[in-house]
Amino acid sequence: MKVSVIGGAGYVGLITGLGISTMGHKVIATDIDEKKIALLNNGKPTIFEKGLSSLLDYCNKNNMIEFSTDISSSIKKSDLIIISVGTPTDPNGKIDLSQVKMALKDLAENLNPFTLILIKSTLPITAVNMLKEELGKKFTEGKDFDIASNPEFLREGRAVYDFYNPDRIVIGGSSSKSIDILKEFYSPLINRDMSVPSDISIEKKKIPFIVTNLPSAQMIKYGSNAFLANKISFVNEIAQICESVGANVNDVITGMGMDPRIGSEYMQPGPGFGGPCLEKDLEALVELGRFFNLEATFMKAILERNERQVELVKNKMSRFVNSAYSKIAIMGLAFKAGTDDIRNSASVKLINMLIMEGYEVRSYDPVAKLDINNSNYSQCKDLYSTLESADCAVIMTEWEEFKSIDLNKMKKLMKSNIVLDIRNLFNRDDVEGAGLKYYGLGS
Ligand code: UGA
Repeated sequence: MKVSVIGGAGYVGLITGLGISTMGHKVIATDIDEKKIALLNNGKPTIFEKGLSSLLDYCNKNNMIEFSTDISSSIKKSDLIIISVGTPTDPNGKIDLSQVKMALKDLAENLNPFTLILIKSTLPITAVNMLKEELGKKFTEGKDFDIASNPEFLREGRAVYDFYNPDRIVIGGSSSKSIDILKEFYSPLINRDMSVPSDISIEKKKIPFIVTNLPSAQMIKYGSNAFLANKISFVNEIAQICESVGANVNDVITGMGMDPRIGSEYMQPGPGFGGPCLEKDLEALVELGRFFNLEATFMKAILERNERQVELVKNKMSRFVNSAYSKIAIMGLAFKAGTDDIRNSASVKLINMLIMEGYEVRSYDPVAKLDINNSNYSQCKDLYSTLESADCAVIMTEWEEFKSIDLNKMKKLMKSNIVLDIRNLFNRDDVEGAGLKYYGLGS
């Protein structure tokens, strides 16, 4: 099949474009970002993601994908168009649909009937209706075009693995013609029959193909992200209560997780969920609630609990570090391990709070970068320089690299000995054995 991916240099678009090219489809990944397209054409990944470099190299060398800024001509050439443009939140908390509207304009001007439009971006249900209405002014739905939803469940840091080993493929649409096209489109992934570089694992597993109507597919995505966010706010609150009553949250999670109805996955307390997706999708549900005159009180509570978490981390730190002029070493900037993404990162929020209060902050991250123009902030190139003369070290991202830190060296380098492990990455006995004072989360 000839496929265009609009937003093809973005996170979802890039992984999707490369992935489907290895399913045997002829792919043009288009984007308005000329710089990114040039980098991708030269085999340079635009994001840090495990397995991406070799996948990009493989697809480029075998001419399986074309990266282009010419969106119009790629639309004209395609049977299937995947929309994976960004849907960020604007400063007022509303979803910014400007990229979707630009894609819509290109589609309206260049669509070559019959074309199936597949929405991968997480769009509010009302925006999908807008797409249908606008295209319907010029074309006939069903005859010239169809719109289907195909939400994405990729996790940053594991996106390549997730593409090839999804838990499910969800399709939302009403026409049997579109569903048949998509079944054929996805058959190489479902039949586990793809040509991939050797470092990519394709598990032998059955991939469920779920067909539903369009709003249900969108709600599967929103509901999944909201439920995941709910787990984190829940476990962070349990951790807080554990601290007060003298319980150990790690034991509590283990004990709770043995009940299969609860499970122990995605139950790690931390500095609060970050990244570009969970908060945005919760906000979209709150907004949908407003639109339909429903009070999304539960979604609001998840968000509010998360917003408090960084403040709680800072308060915890101030209990052990008394002077506001102390030196703080922040270990980890990315919103989670495995990515260089600092969007909505709790670590960045904490750093900004600390600088405002006059602390001297040094940070280290194996891949992420944070540039703040403030004489009280600097980012170090290696972990141990960050710790030099520090009064307190705060572990904000769960990088594997941190687990193998030389604790005796850490003790020697630091001025004071406070270790605040917000990811519960270390073993208390190991840290205290090196003469450091250990404070985890929820114990
Ligand atoms: C999330 C979903 O997990 C994906 O399924 C979805 O496709 C994606 O959003 C999206 O909508 O695009 P992602 O944002 O990459 O994926 O990251 P997660 O692994 O879900 O982590 C989100 C945040 O929760 C991170 O800050 C992470 O540190 C935190 N987290 C996660 C915890 O604090 N504890 C946990 O146990 C798990």
